[in-house]
Amino acid sequence: HKRRISDGDTDNLVPQYKVPDGPPPVMIVTLKRRTACSGDKKIVKYEFASVDGSPLPSFDAGAHIDVTPVPQFIRQYSLCSDPADTSTYCIGVLREDAGRGGSTRLHKMLREGKPVLISRPRNHFPLAEEANKSILLAGGIGITPLIAMAHTLHAQGKEFVFYYKARTRAGAGFIDDLEHFPWADKVKLYFSDENRLDVNDVLHQYQRGNHLYTCGPAESMDAVFASAINLGWHEDALHREYFTAPDTSELESHPFRLTLKRSAVEIEVPTHKKATEALQEAGYPVNTKCSDGLCGVCATEYLKGDVDHRDFVLSKDQRKHKIILCCSRAAQANGDIVLDL
Ligand code: FES
Repeated sequence: HKRRISDGDTDNLVPQYKVPDGPPPVMIVTLKRRTACSGDKKIVKYEFASVDGSPLPSFDAGAHIDVTPVPQFIRQYSLCSDPADTSTYCIGVLREDAGRGGSTRLHKMLREGKPVLISRPRNHFPLAEEANKSILLAGGIGITPLIAMAHTLHAQGKEFVFYYKARTRAGAGFIDDLEHFPWADKVKLYFSDENRLDVNDVLHQYQRGNHLYTCGPAESMDAVFASAINLGWHEDALHREYFTAPDTSELESHPFRLTLKRSAVEIEVPTHKKATEALQEAGYPVNTKCSDGLCGVCATEYLKGDVDHRDFVLSKDQRKHKIILCCSRAAQANGDIVLDL
């Protein structure tokens, strides 16, 4: 910065932030109710309502919100309430004592009647409208977005089955709710210490037009996808949502170049840096949030280039023209990715 200032080269030295168009991306809500919803009390349901009691912004099944219990912790949680009822947003949070601290802080800090900062809902895990039958397969706390999906499918009169597996009955969340939902007859429960779920049994009757949605631990979702593909499911019929990023440290990274078409600038990205970091240093900051390839905030249009997509959020179609800059790179060493920036 000192050298650039002494050279008089001050263009883009200070990032220019522009207030985005449209409604504000965050809002203050009130925690209306918190209820333990697993036998071991580790899963808690939080219901948020607007401060003045008016309806909250609408959302589609599969959407999530960011919750900020304290400024340095932002965590994403899927909405598990019925999208047809926007009087409240409901999330389910598992207290992970060995986690990064977000869930334990959330459990400690959120108190009924207190204000909470949340984002508007965003959705990277939507239902496919064309599905003639949906298989919802939830693992552990991954049940939350699938509950919202089941509400929507039930309201639409569409065919679906809801499989829920957990290690133990005591550690499973929402069991009472599942017994009382109007679609309770669609629910099949599996506990590792009672009756294990055989994924092949669930998936072997695939027929064209069926869609599978799964959410749970990464290794469990990988196994579900592997079985499905093995059994002939079409890739486009498989949907999953990660809530933590799988370990990608073993992936090989190369240096590459970003060409910013509209700015007519070339930026080198060394092996040890992310594209977002190189852009920031060059004076072209891109918004980021999770920096793990999960939230989609840094998605950017690209015009050309062979991209090694390492995100967990873009669909196959979106990857044809979008790149997640906090984790994806050029597929080849010294490759060039042309961005629409
Ligand atoms: S910042 Fe979340 S996907 Fe890049």
